[in-house]
Amino acid sequence: MLNGKRILIGVSGGIAAYKVAWLVRLLVKAGAQVRVVMTHAAHEFVTPLTLATLSKNPVVTDFQAGKQGTWNNHVELGLWADLLVLAPATANTLAKLAHGHCDNLLMAVVLSARCPVCVAPAMDVDMYHHASTQDNLRILDQRGVKIIPPGEGELASGLSGEGRLAEPEHILAFIEATLAGKQRLSGKRILVTAGPTFEAIDPVRFIGNHSSGKMGVAIAEKLASEGAEVCFIAGPIAIPTNHPNIKRFDVVSAQDMFDCATQEFLTCDAAILAAAVADYRPKNVAAEKIKKQAHDVPQIELEQTPDILATLGQTKKQTQVLVGFALETTNEIEHAKRKLEKKNLDFIVLNSLRDSGAGFKGDTNKITILHRAGKTINFELKSKNEVAADIVEQLCTYL
Ligand code: PMT
Repeated sequence: MLNGKRILIGVSGGIAAYKVAWLVRLLVKAGAQVRVVMTHAAHEFVTPLTLATLSKNPVVTDFQAGKQGTWNNHVELGLWADLLVLAPATANTLAKLAHGHCDNLLMAVVLSARCPVCVAPAMDVDMYHHASTQDNLRILDQRGVKIIPPGEGELASGLSGEGRLAEPEHILAFIEATLAGKQRLSGKRILVTAGPTFEAIDPVRFIGNHSSGKMGVAIAEKLASEGAEVCFIAGPIAIPTNHPNIKRFDVVSAQDMFDCATQEFLTCDAAILAAAVADYRPKNVAAEKIKKQAHDVPQIELEQTPDILATLGQTKKQTQVLVGFALETTNEIEHAKRKLEKKNLDFIVLNSLRDSGAGFKGDTNKITILHRAGKTINFELKSKNEVAADIVEQLCTYL
């Protein structure tokens, strides 16, 4: 796959630059032609001599080289590449790229490139989660730049969290998939539910809840951007979805959502049920508006709605992956574990209304993922887009 491919590596100044030596080695071993552009700051972390030796090509940093002032032609470099990979991409380099700054050779090369561009962010956890870095990544993502997700774990600062440069082997796999025109989830069909359900009392009134659909929409969009065909079943929500990979079904009640989900799941590889489905509905729906009585208060008899997640859990094939949500207010872990087992899920995403910034309506959420095999991962408060990326990351380990 990589034999003869021209891979241009852009290295910016972060401690993770030391890992690029191994990436270059892996690429050359796989038959790729590799050239490297470094920023001055990157020289502090890995020497040009190391990368020139491993890539078997001179490494460039400045517009002019040598005393004679030979010109390093950024346009020629940009046009030479089949793929440009910025690794590590520091917060500074991402910001420059998002806003078109062109104050060094690397940025001039990136702006001149006509090939696909991948960025592998690497920085400390708080820098990575800073709103400005996340905004810059979103801008780049929307422009079609491919983001190689950073790893999670111990960082050079001693802190722990997201922000580690993806491992060279992962970057290599990402490069191969990109050159093959494949995205991680291409060929996968994934069902997502979102929003509330409305259970009619009469033609005017209903039983509902506070779900806005934001969490489910973020998941559907993330899956679509990774190449999945998304079957998106939305309760009554006001958020539009525009991605061409999203096939949307708008429903109102738990029964509508059940009918749609059980049918569509038959041809899906996975399902993530983020909807806040009503557990109860009026047993009898009044045909006309219930009139206000002077003294009587109407009694509404309730019955259970079908449990969509439990039904999918009963019918799922071994190859299908099923993910549920648990929205709790007390004994969170215990309740989530019970749902994980009872509904036959592969993993469950717990969010608690006791965590400020988590749950309904807002743009943030705080989750814990409990895997069936026993592993539990706690995440900090993040934007719902980042939470969606975390959930999709976990799903990918099953697919
Ligand atoms: O939409 P937002 O405003 O962004 O808010 C997001 C959210 C809080 C709604 C979301 O993060 C969330 O927690 N969704 C699940 C809410 C819920 O109904 O949780 P639960 O613990 O009651 O249900 C457990 C699971 O069973 C859920 O996956 C639910 O979709 C599913 N379920 C429940 C009842 C039912 N009849 N059928 C179901 O499929």
